[in-house]
Amino acid sequence: MQAGLALCAGKRDHDRDHANKPMLGGDTGAVRIAATQQLPGPAWAELPDLELLQTWPPAQPLPGVEVLVAVVVPVGAEELDLLPDLRLVANYGAGYDTVDVAECRERGIPVTNTPGVLDAAVADLTLALILACRRHVVTADRLVREGRWQRRWAQPELLGHDLAGSTLGLVGLGRIGSEVAQRAEAFGMHVVFNRRSGGLPLDELLRTADVVSLHVPLTDETRGLVSRERLALLRDGSTLINTARGTIVDEDALVEELVSGRISAGLDVFAAEPNVPEPLLGLPNVVLTPHIASAAVETRAAMTRVLVDNVLAFVRGEPLLTPVDR
Ligand code: DGY
Repeated sequence: MQAGLALCAGKRDHDRDHANKPMLGGDTGAVRIAATQQLPGPAWAELPDLELLQTWPPAQPLPGVEVLVAVVVPVGAEELDLLPDLRLVANYGAGYDTVDVAECRERGIPVTNTPGVLDAAVADLTLALILACRRHVVTADRLVREGRWQRRWAQPELLGHDLAGSTLGLVGLGRIGSEVAQRAEAFGMHVVFNRRSGGLPLDELLRTADVVSLHVPLTDETRGLVSRERLALLRDGSTLINTARGTIVDEDALVEELVSGRISAGLDVFAAEPNVPEPLLGLPNVVLTPHIASAAVETRAAMTRVLVDNVLAFVRGEPLLTPVDR
């Protein structure tokens, strides 16, 4: 993590931006805040004079807006041009790949995200997808609903695999990866990992694991990390889980592997959300969820808390809590 560096850079920008501004005190009404979406949880009410944008990007320039609460929307040069007085982008989510941080930095606009409060929720969904894939939970549910349950408990096509004794390969062992490792070990899985600073070489991990789960952020370095060639390294019958970002994997190649039936997958993220590749929709060997890894009431409220605390810190001229940079 480059948290230390990021903190300094964010604070520097923030301090520089504040140098010519009057003191704002704790009154958020003194700063014009716009949001692309309302957020859940009680902390939201602490941003009283907030403007909810009806469209994104806005239909016309919005001079005077100083803080943008960005909820899964692209924020790049084009959008920033429409917000000439912007002084903070508060991104809802730990991942901030939809925000052009370099462009914001050029313009002296700090960006914050909401890390640290969604690790358990994402790890939970990762285990849910592992279980769903390895034990055919979704296929079995469908079979019951369609009246195809015939032999009490001896239906051969529903035979899955034990988690205990199988190998989980984690690509990335940050906060979320570590939470996944803890849970997987409790299920009796043997956990191996690959990360920048060590562990198994990625190709070896892909060749040996029964289940591979991705837990790296989307950066220039990780885009396309699981390429066509690397997907081909996965063992026959193995399972790929992606709760990170769709474009970390070569999605076309993944679709081909899944259509062939050679591997299975649990996918919460896709290259061009909310679009899911059509060939996946009818496949029994893939479980699809619509980017819900952090979608727990408590977690989303905690994410809102972090975002609001950043905005309030900005308004008060205090250091930002979780600035990002790259
Ligand atoms: C994030 O915060 O980046 C997650 O993808 C939301 O689930």
